[in-house]
Amino acid sequence: MTDAVAVLERLRALRAADAPTHGGRVLSYVYDSGRDELDDLADAAARLARPLNGLDPTVFPSISAMERDLIGFARRMLRGGRSVVGSITSGGTESCLLAVKTARDLWRAQHPDATGRPRLVTPTTAHAAFQKAAALFDLDWDPVPCAPDGTVRAADLVDRLDDDVALVVVSAPAYPTGALDPVAEVASAAADRGVSCHVDACFGGFVLPWWPGLPAWDFRVRGVTSISADLHKFGYAPKGVSVLLHGGGGGRRRHRAQFFATTRWPGYPVVNPTLLGSRSASPLAAAWAIAQHLGERGYAELTASTARAAAEFRRIVDGIQGLAVMGAPAGPAIALVADKNVSARERVDPHRLADAMLAHGWKVQHQPGLTQADGTRIPHSAHFTLTPVHEKEMAELGAALRAASDSVRGVRAADARMLVAALRILGYREGGRVPGPSAAWRLLRLAGAGRVSADQPMAMLMALIERLPAPVAEALLTELLARLSEP
Ligand SMILES: Cc1ncc(COP(=O)(O)O)c(C=O)c1O
Repeated sequence: MTDAVAVLERLRALRAADAPTHGGRVLSYVYDSGRDELDDLADAAARLARPLNGLDPTVFPSISAMERDLIGFARRMLRGGRSVVGSITSGGTESCLLAVKTARDLWRAQHPDATGRPRLVTPTTAHAAFQKAAALFDLDWDPVPCAPDGTVRAADLVDRLDDDVALVVVSAPAYPTGALDPVAEVASAAADRGVSCHVDACFGGFVLPWWPGLPAWDFRVRGVTSISADLHKFGYAPKGVSVLLHGGGGGRRRHRAQFFATTRWPGYPVVNPTLLGSRSASPLAAAWAIAQHLGERGYAELTASTARAAAEFRRIVDGIQGLAVMGAPAGPAIALVADKNVSARERVDPHRLADAMLAHGWKVQHQPGLTQADGTRIPHSAHFTLTPVHEKEMAELGAALRAASDSVRGVRAADARMLVAALRILGYREGGRVPGPSAAWRLLRLAGAGRVSADQPMAMLMALIERLPAPVAEALLTELLARLSEP
């Protein structure tokens, strides 16, 4: 046996290599309210609920009590009436998966004679969780190209709606661009055609309700049949908790289609509202405690801080030559691109910028460019998720952004064409071979990407990813991640 103190000491040492989760230095993944008391509250609540099993709330009724409170709170914030019901899930991906599974099962029930697979229509900027849902639940994913600045065109989505569509998705906002999709136009057209419409507010569900100047995008909108909203993002709860709500008339019927129930085995009757069986109640308890503590007023105050930070951030970007905001963000996510209106010498490449920000202590997420099905290209960008803590950090963030921009202005984007050409000769071309584990590992090391860490420049790896055929790039990234946890 190893001494418990020594075990924790080792964990502390391991944690020292992690990027900082507080203070706003990591501009994605973590959502810092800037209020330490929320962490203490979440810890205490999570600890109280730690031994419970969410598998059976009849045995542990505290679980359904917390769920009722939290679902009720989310329903009020998302302007749903009493007919809106839902479930607490383990995160955004699970909420999106379940929204798709629900719509698929309802579609199948309505089309008993259909022989083909139903379609899932999304803009290309919809979260990748929907591609995963289509793959897992056997739907045809039908991505609809956006404008080159990532703006979603309602008419293009509506054009795709037909009898074989189980679900159309819009985002509030879309993660890659921060833009609020045209929810009302798409949802009402979907309702006219009898198609379900999901609003993915995983990112914005607990911040956009208080964001100034937005059109309605929630259950007030005719045709919206479900909404996902993550408590572990702008709900400020620790990871592992999201909410999925069903409405649009028939909310209960929709919600029940989300469940899996069976009595066809000799064990306990299984009734799972979500994907897991046994599940921790700690994330639920932490989110419940934070929502109880903050209430609507607390969320409104935190959102006001974030909105001020976002406005100031945009003023700073406007003053930096060569850098531009992509599209029309409508909340706390902002993507930066190179300004195409100035000469190449004056441009700031966003991935060079993200790499340069590391030296100033800021971790910015690289977003690769994407060639859409119609041949248009959404450019590569740098993603910034702003949170309440950034209001007081904005002077430092601005200084870092200016200095990092100055250091890379005029430096061309990383160019992986030689590597891509070499791989093409080896057969890794469009429609060609896909590397297995050993070949993928060799290729990664050849590309100098055998090791990745939080403080490593990523521009070259991203340049490679965006130029390779998707199945090849996906195999390389799978290998990269899989090797990290190999003993
Ligand atoms: C719009 C949107 N949907 C879904 C997700 C997936 O959420 P999670 O990472 O919690 O699974 C995200 C994550 O960033 C998101 O921004």
